[in-house]
Amino acid sequence: MSLPPGFLDEIRARVPISRVIGKKVTWDLRKSNQGRGDWWAPCPFHQEKSASFHCDDQKGFYYCFGCHAKGDALTFLREHDGLPFIDAVKLLAAEAGLAMPEPDPRARERTDRRSRLLEVTEASARWFRLQLQTSAAAEARDYLTRRGLDAAALERFEIGFAPDQRTALTAALREKGFDEALIVEAGMSARPDGGGAAYDRFRGRIIFPIRDGQGRCIGFGGRAMDPNARAKYLNSPETPLFDKGRNLYNLGPARGAVAKGQRLIVAEGYMDVIALARAGFEGAVAPLGTAITEEQLRLMWRVSPEPVIALDGDAAGQRAAQRLIDLALPMTGPGQALRFVILPAGQDPDDLITSAGPGAMGALLDGARPLLDLLWSRETEGQSFDSPERRAALEARLAAAIAKIPDERTRGHYASELKRKQWDLFGARKPQAASRQGPAGRSMARRGTGGAPPRAPIGPITVTLPEAGEDLLEGAALLICALRPPCMAAVAPQLERLLPRDPDRAALLHDLLSGTDSDAGQRGLERLRQDAHLGLTPTVIEQQEVETASAILCNLLDRMEALRAGRAELARAEAEIQGEADEGLTWRISQITRARHRAERPDMENLGDFTEDRDALSTQLDGWLSGQIWRKPPRR
Ligand code: UTP
Ligand code: MN
Repeated sequence: MSLPPGFLDEIRARVPISRVIGKKVTWDLRKSNQGRGDWWAPCPFHQEKSASFHCDDQKGFYYCFGCHAKGDALTFLREHDGLPFIDAVKLLAAEAGLAMPEPDPRARERTDRRSRLLEVTEASARWFRLQLQTSAAAEARDYLTRRGLDAAALERFEIGFAPDQRTALTAALREKGFDEALIVEAGMSARPDGGGAAYDRFRGRIIFPIRDGQGRCIGFGGRAMDPNARAKYLNSPETPLFDKGRNLYNLGPARGAVAKGQRLIVAEGYMDVIALARAGFEGAVAPLGTAITEEQLRLMWRVSPEPVIALDGDAAGQRAAQRLIDLALPMTGPGQALRFVILPAGQDPDDLITSAGPGAMGALLDGARPLLDLLWSRETEGQSFDSPERRAALEARLAAAIAKIPDERTRGHYASELKRKQWDLFGARKPQAASRQGPAGRSMARRGTGGAPPRAPIGPITVTLPEAGEDLLEGAALLICALRPPCMAAVAPQLERLLPRDPDRAALLHDLLSGTDSDAGQRGLERLRQDAHLGLTPTVIEQQEVETASAILCNLLDRMEALRAGRAELARAEAEIQGEADEGLTWRISQITRARHRAERPDMENLGDFTEDRDALSTQLDGWLSGQIWRKPPRR
C-alpha cells in the first residue's frame, strides 16, 4: 500500500512511542523520567533483569544498550509483535485517530495473491495429511513407525504423504478451484521444460509442512523413502511465500517454548527438530535445506540471546560450524551469542536421542561451548606452534577474526581470553624445560634494536607459571567434591568456572554438577584417586567433617582463582611490556602481587602439602618488582 507523504510522520507525532511500548514492558519508574518522556525498562527483545532498554518520546525512538535493538514505534510493532508493516501502520493510525488512506490497488492485489497462495499451501497440507491414511501409504506409515513416530507425533508435526503419482495433488487442487498458475506459483507443481501439463513436485515422499513464525504454511520438505532417490530431501522452491534463508522450521512452537524458559536449539534437519521436541527440547528449529544465513541468525537472536547450534558429528556438520563462526563473528555481541554442540561422530540429534536417550542429549547441550572456543579450536587444533613464525601467524589469524566483532566490549573479552589461551598453549609447550622462556623473553630481545643486547636488569625473563600447582589444586578440589558431594553446594558458581582442561576431569566435574554418571567422569575420578601427588589422599578427605572438607574446598578454589587471575594478568602485562610501560602496568603488577599473596595464604597449610611451584612464582615476581621493569628504560 502506498501511503500519502507525511502520513507516517503524522501518526508518529501523534502517538508517543512510550504508549505503544508501554503495553509490552514494565517501566523502571525509578530510572525513568516521565516528565521528560524518558523511559527505561528491561528489554523486551532479550532476557535481562536490569533496565537497559531506553525509549525517548521526544525522538520517537527506542534503543537497547544491551542487545542494540532500536527503532521507532512501527519498528517495535513489527519486530516485537511480529506485525506486518501495514498492520503496524493501521494499529498506530487507529491509536492516532487517523483514518487509513484508501489502499493502492496494486498492493491490495499482492496481498490478495499471497492469501490465495496460502490457501493453496494449506489445502495441500490437508491433502498430504489425508493421503497418509490411504492404503497407498502403507509403506510410508511403516517407515514412520520404524523411525519411532507415533500418531501423536504425526499429528503434532502434521506429517503427511505425497503418493508416487504424477498429478494427484495438482488434480485435487484443480478440483478445489485453484488454477494451475497459482498451484505452480505456490511451488506445489512444476511445468515440464518442454511445455505440457503441470506435475506434482512431491512424489513418493514423506511430507513435512513448514510454517512461518505466524503459523502460516509457506512450504514443504519431502523425504524420500527410497534410499536410492536422487535427493533424500526435496523442499519447496523459492516462492512469494517461501524464502528459505529467512525462515526456520518449527519457529512458532520453538518461540513459545523459549518464552517458557527452554533453550533455543538449532539442529540441521526436520527429523532432528521432531526428535528434540519429542524428547522435551521443545525450543528446536532447523534451517530449511540450506546453510544457516545471516537473516536466520537475526531471527534466532530475536527469540533467544544464546541459541545452541547442534550440528551433526560428520564432516558436513563440522564445515557448517566453521562457516557459522565466520558468519556470526561480525554480528556477535551482548544478546547475540552462540553456543555449539558437536555431536558424536556420525550422529545427529535424532540418532543420539534414539540410541542414548534424552538424558545424553541434555548432557551434551549443557556442555555446549561458546563461539570463542570453536574459533580457538579451529585455529589451533592439530597444529604445532613450535616457532615464532607459527605463533605470529596464529596471533595474526586470531586478531583478524576478533577485528570482525563490532561490539567493543565483546571484542575486548575475546582478545583477553584468546591471549590467555595462547599463553597456556605456548607456555605449556615444553613442560620439562628447566627454565622456559615466555613470549616476553623474546619480545625483550626484539627490543634491543640495531643488534644491541637486551637491557641488563630485565635480562632473559623466565616465566615459570604455577600451572603444575593449579593442576594439583584442581585435582584436589575435584576429589573433595567427588568424595564429599555435600561440600559442593556452597561453591557451585566457582566450580562452574573451573573448566578443567583435562577432558576426563571436565567430565567428572560435569557429572558432579549435574548428578549424572559418565565413563569419562569415572575415569577422571579413578585417575585422581591414584594420583600420588595430590597430597590430600582420599582417606584424609574421607576422615574430615563435611564442614572441614568444605572449608578446604573453598580455600582451594579461592587459591586457584587467584592463581588464574594472576596468570591472566601476567600475560597481559607481558604483552604490554613490549610497548612503553606506564602507570597502568605498575598497577597491574601490584595486582599480581596481591593475587600472589592471596594464593599463598598459609591457612589450612597443615591439611595438605600442595607442592605448587610457588617458589618459582615468588622469585619471578620479586625479580620483576626489584627490576622495576615497568619503568621506562633510561634512554642512552
Ligand atoms: P541430513 O542428510 O542430515 O538428514 O539432512 P537428516 O535430517 O538426518 O534426515 P534423516 O534422519 O536421514 O531423515 C539435514 C537437512 O538437510 C536438508 C534437509 O533440510 C534435511 O532435513 N537436506 C538434506 C536437503 O535439503 N536435501 C537433501 O538431499 C538432504
Ligand atoms: Mn537423521
